[in-house]
Amino acid sequence: MAGFLDEIETLKQAALQNLKYAPDLGALEETKGAWIGPHGRFTALMKQLGTLPKEEKPAAGKAINAAKAELEAALAERRSELELAAALPEEPADFSAPGRRRALGKLHPLTQVTEDIIRSFRKIGFVVADGPEIEDEYHCFDALNTPADHPARDTQDTFYLAMPSPAGTCPSPTGVGEGARRADEGSRGGNKLCGEGGAAAPGASPSPGGEGRGEGERKLLLLRTHTSSVQIRVMEQMKKAGKEPPVRLIAPGRVYRRDNADATHNPTFQQIEGLYVDKNVTVGDLKGTVEFVFKELLGEETKIRFRPHYFSYTEPSFEIDFSNALVKKLGKDWLEIAGCGMVHPAVFENVGYDPEIWTGWAFGFGIERIAMLRYGINDIRLFYENDVRFLRQF
Ligand code: DAH
Repeated sequence: MAGFLDEIETLKQAALQNLKYAPDLGALEETKGAWIGPHGRFTALMKQLGTLPKEEKPAAGKAINAAKAELEAALAERRSELELAAALPEEPADFSAPGRRRALGKLHPLTQVTEDIIRSFRKIGFVVADGPEIEDEYHCFDALNTPADHPARDTQDTFYLAMPSPAGTCPSPTGVGEGARRADEGSRGGNKLCGEGGAAAPGASPSPGGEGRGEGERKLLLLRTHTSSVQIRVMEQMKKAGKEPPVRLIAPGRVYRRDNADATHNPTFQQIEGLYVDKNVTVGDLKGTVEFVFKELLGEETKIRFRPHYFSYTEPSFEIDFSNALVKKLGKDWLEIAGCGMVHPAVFENVGYDPEIWTGWAFGFGIERIAMLRYGINDIRLFYENDVRFLRQF
């Protein structure tokens, strides 16, 4: 009996060694067959059990079963080790290598400033409007009481497109409202207006063909010089929809001028337009609104002042200056920031509003100047160079 038990132990130890050190899965399967397969040596031992005297069988059977269980456990363990090794890449991972960073995007500084401005205006009930960057002369100038022979057109010279707009089609809408849309989320939803689709309003007064522009060319397309065209588009659209004022809108967006780029000029820049139309609107409303927004934007201690000026679409017209610590830092008392005024009756007439009933104010200002002041940037071109070393600072 002792001899049989010893034999079990000896065979088990040998089998364990073979299983444990099987070099690969193929070798492991062979080892398994050689020991515990149907013709394996361990199996042969089990078959000898029957030849033992009856009283020795229970102990021997128990020993064999325990040994077999041990071998099967060793087989399973070596198999999973070898399977894992087979699944790993040949080159082991270098856990000391630096990790791969995922670069996070940021909002452009101009977008951040635009969104701040929109947020302030939303607090006092203004909605965001959008209009096309490829505009027609009528909406950019004529409807704003700036006919073709008006000197103001020279100061806003722009890029004209070679083809006239086919009557009744809309210059392609733009993505200028991106920032606006983001600021839209979560606040008073759904209050976004869009300019009217038609290229020129029905009954639009044709430009008198100055500078050799003939009849057929009066709907020339251009890159808009200011966001004031959105005033016209929205009022036209509301009129068409039979909606009466009040109108309270702001229109942020990209505008174009034929300027040579330098530290303070760029042929492309951003503006925000504002328009408020209602009954009995006064310059006091305008001043109060502008003051509220600029204090929010530039600090509570910010002061503003109005200086008389001329714009063809407002009467009276003003330029807005502001003063605060940022301006003082530049060694100045006041810095010009915006144009504004009371909507000219001719503008109301052009969109079909009765100027005897409706009154309103409008303003427009550039975003870059505010961003430059806020962040201490001294060259406007930096905003448009897309240099990430600059952009990632905001
Ligand atoms: N459109 C003007 C510009 O680009 C700014 C401006 C002035 C807008 C007076 C207005 C306004 O709405 O009333 O310089």
